This record gives sequence, structure tokens and C-alpha cells, in this order.
Amino acid sequence: MRPETHALADGEVGADPTGDGEPMISFDHVGKRFFKKGKPFQALGDAHFDVRPGEFVSIVGPSGCGKSTLLNITAGLMRPSSGQVRYQGAPIGTVNTRVGYVTQADTLLPWRTVRQNIGIPLEIRHHPRTDRADLIEAMIEKVGLAEFGGHYPAELSGGMRKRVILARTLIYQPETLLMDEPFGALDAQLKLVLQQELLRLWADAGTTILFVTHDLAEAVTLSDRVVVVSSRPGTMRTIKAIDIERPRDVFEVRFHDRFRELQQELWAILQDDMLEGGEM
Ligand SMILES: Nc1ncnc2c1ncn2[C@@H]1O[C@H](COP(=O)(O)OP(=O)(O)O)[C@@H](O)[C@H]1O
Ligand SMILES: [Mg+2]
Repeated sequence: MRPETHALADGEVGADPTGDGEPMISFDHVGKRFFKKGKPFQALGDAHFDVRPGEFVSIVGPSGCGKSTLLNITAGLMRPSSGQVRYQGAPIGTVNTRVGYVTQADTLLPWRTVRQNIGIPLEIRHHPRTDRADLIEAMIEKVGLAEFGGHYPAELSGGMRKRVILARTLIYQPETLLMDEPFGALDAQLKLVLQQELLRLWADAGTTILFVTHDLAEAVTLSDRVVVVSSRPGTMRTIKAIDIERPRDVFEVRFHDRFRELQQELWAILQDDMLEGGEM
């Protein structure tokens, strides 16, 4: 971490600040270097924070600051060039099967129905055939697609396809969810509906969520804490605790004074990076 560039507020970075047990995920000075045309370039500078069990943590930062890279490393799909990620205390070696990962490019198999798409993780895990159908029906119900089990992806709206992806990820009850801008391309109203659903599912299941977004309002709406990352090489600017009580109604929370304050504070930290530093 470049000490001259990061101003840490809230005193939340580093070791478990509350001292109440082992973190679910801990990022210990994680950096990632790639090579472009034979030349090394630093994509991710230095990520250093913990995610506690059951916590909802968002990462916000401009395009190209290494957010997806950090999730890829957490999923075990990529190795860091420096530092280490630990999952429940153990270094992540190969693919981390305890996490569910909704990637930015997530798509459904077009030749399979909703039901068949949602069942994929059960097939991969050789889940007993006999209760697959029941699990799938329960999940379809949970994400509000009861009428659509036999439909194909092409017959669904964008929001419905997101629900199917969510159902497919949740069906094997991962203890941790990594989500990379899952609602990015949706219109504003639909985004709120799905945020509400996600909060409900998260509260029911007690899942730990690490969520990437570049939408500050979304980060404040959903999170317990927001990690703010600078433009490339992504360096942590601050971690902000979102002290708004739960359960939150996503349609109403944005009218709270505290919501506006937090959003403004985050924007004040990020605006230079967002306006100048991003790759978009
Ligand atoms: N596998 C890769 N090989 C080379 N460069 C990569 C690779 N993955 C990402 N990058 C580069 O690293 C930087 C960070 O990428 P990424 O993590 O996708 O950023 P973000 O998700 O914050 O937009 C970008 O410049 C991107 O082009
Ligand atoms: Mg990304």
C-alpha cells in the first residue's frame, strides 16, 4: 500500500477490529501484476481487509482498479502476485468450492430451461437425483419464478435471467457469495427489486457476501461496510461502516439523511478517481 495515498477512516482496516472471532475472508496485502505486451503492470495495488462471517461487504472503485481480479483471486481462479488471501484462516490454494461466484459475464445455457439451468450445480456435485427436483422447485419459488420453470432463457426478461443466475448460485447453499456487478445492466427500478430480494435471501441464509459495484447508492443500500478502492493500481482509500439499521427497505432507505451523508462521503473520497482514473 502506498502510505502517502491512502487515508484510512473508521479504523477498520487490518485485523479483526471487533475481536470477535476468525474472519471468513482475510486479504493480507494482496497485489496482482499482469503482463501486457511483455511489460508488467500492476492491476491491483494492495488490498488489506477482512470480511467477517455473515457480513455484507461491498467493494467500490472505478473501472479497471482490480475489483474483478480480487474476486477471481478469492475464488481461487487466479493467484496473487504478492500477499495472500485466507479463507477461514487457510490460504486459498486451488478453486475455492465453498464460495458461490456470480461473475460479470454470467450467462445461462440457452438450450436449457430455467429448471435445468438452476440444477447445474447439483449435477456437478453429484447431488442425489431423488431430491434434486424438490430443491430446484423450492429455489424457483424463493426467487419468485414459480411460473417459469419450463421456460428457456430467451423467453425471460433481463431481471428474470438475473433471478435464475441467483437461484443457480444459491441452490448449493454456499457459505460465501462473491458477486461481481450482478445488477449492473438493469434499469433502476428493477435493480431495486433485485436488491430487496438479495437482502431478504442474505438475511434468511446467513451467507457472507462480498459484492462488487460501481454504484455508490447500491453499496450503501446493501452493505455493512464499503471498501473504497482507488483507480489502478487499486489501492484501498478507506473502509466505511454503513451504520443504517436493518432490516432495510431498499425503496425507502435512500430517503434517510444518513444514507445521503454516507453517499456524499463516499463520493467525496472517490470522485477524482471516478472522473479521471477509470478505464471506461
Ligand atoms: N487475465 C488478465 N491478463 C491481463 N490483464 C488483466 C487480466 N485481468 C484483468 N486485467 C487488467 O487488470 C486491470 C484490472 O482489471 P479488473 O480486475 O477486471 O478491473 P475492474 O473489475 O475493477 O474493472 C485492467 O487493466 C485489466 O485490463
Ligand atoms: Mg470488473
